[in-house]
Amino acid sequence: MKEQLDALRQAAAEQIAQAADSAALDAVRVAILGKKGGLTAILKQMGGLPAEERPVVGQLANEVRTELEALLHERGEQLKAGETAKRLASEALDITMPGQVRPLGHKHSLSIVLDEVKEIFLGMGFSVATGPEVENDYYNFTALNIPEGHTARDEQDTFYTTDGLVLRSATSPVQVRYMERHEPPIRIIAPGRVYRQDTLDATHSPVFHQIEGLVVDEGITMGHLKSTLDQLAKGLFGESTRTRLRPHYFPFTEPSAEVDVSCFRCGGAGCPFCKGEGWVEILGAGMVHPNVLRAGGIDPEKYSGFAFGVGLDRLTLTRFRIDDIRLLFENDLRFLGQF
Ligand code: DAH
Repeated sequence: MKEQLDALRQAAAEQIAQAADSAALDAVRVAILGKKGGLTAILKQMGGLPAEERPVVGQLANEVRTELEALLHERGEQLKAGETAKRLASEALDITMPGQVRPLGHKHSLSIVLDEVKEIFLGMGFSVATGPEVENDYYNFTALNIPEGHTARDEQDTFYTTDGLVLRSATSPVQVRYMERHEPPIRIIAPGRVYRQDTLDATHSPVFHQIEGLVVDEGITMGHLKSTLDQLAKGLFGESTRTRLRPHYFPFTEPSAEVDVSCFRCGGAGCPFCKGEGWVEILGAGMVHPNVLRAGGIDPEKYSGFAFGVGLDRLTLTRFRIDDIRLLFENDLRFLGQF
């Protein structure tokens, strides 16, 4: 039995040393010291020994148990330390590592310019109105004093739906819709999408954006129109910007004007951008036609008003020196990210 114990001690010591992790070590512990383990099996044979040998073998067996338990404990500590170190290494956070730069969403260039325009007009006591993009013939044309047969009704320009409605060709229909529901004094801007049958190219798009303006009150004159547009021009293009009105024709205003701003690149001296003119056209405007006031339920004998319509896309292109309107609609992040 002594030899058996010695053999067990050696074999067990080797297995303990070779156990690769805590689970393997536990298996070794059970195989040696467990109820069905090697040491127990040897001790069960003690009963067959002569009485005088039993204490000697018993003591030896205890020594072997104590020794093996010590080895198990030591190896266990070693393995645990290794496993903890490994776990710490795998869970380690290096707070000095550079962070990941996440792409941030931001405003579209059209929204940036629209917000600036809103800011300017809200500061002058205007509010923002909206209207439907799918309009009917009445608001898009008739109410705006655009008689049957006018070129603006030409199917070449306007998109018609199969049930006789139109995609509004300007934001002007919002004027009459608003007047129908509000009493003067009226001071609104109405931004939104408009549609025309234009072929897409660098300067045309079948969908684009306008900002309509409408002021109606007693005693409104061209002077109010001019000073309001001066504020817009200065706010958008700088304090030294001037405006000028050129006579024009629109069915819904009388008199009507096209409005130029002094070229904000050359200050009015003349450059390639303004084609040597010193002026850049930015919008159409005029005094609201009495027929339009009447369509809105407002008495033209008592009230007068001015209106204007600005192309937001053109403003944006000019403002950011973008040379192709298609860039505003393509949603190419490399383009959008520049503003
Ligand atoms: N509706 C015009 C257009 O689409 C723009 C315009 C001109 C609007 C003069 C107005 C205005 O309100 O008074 O070209």
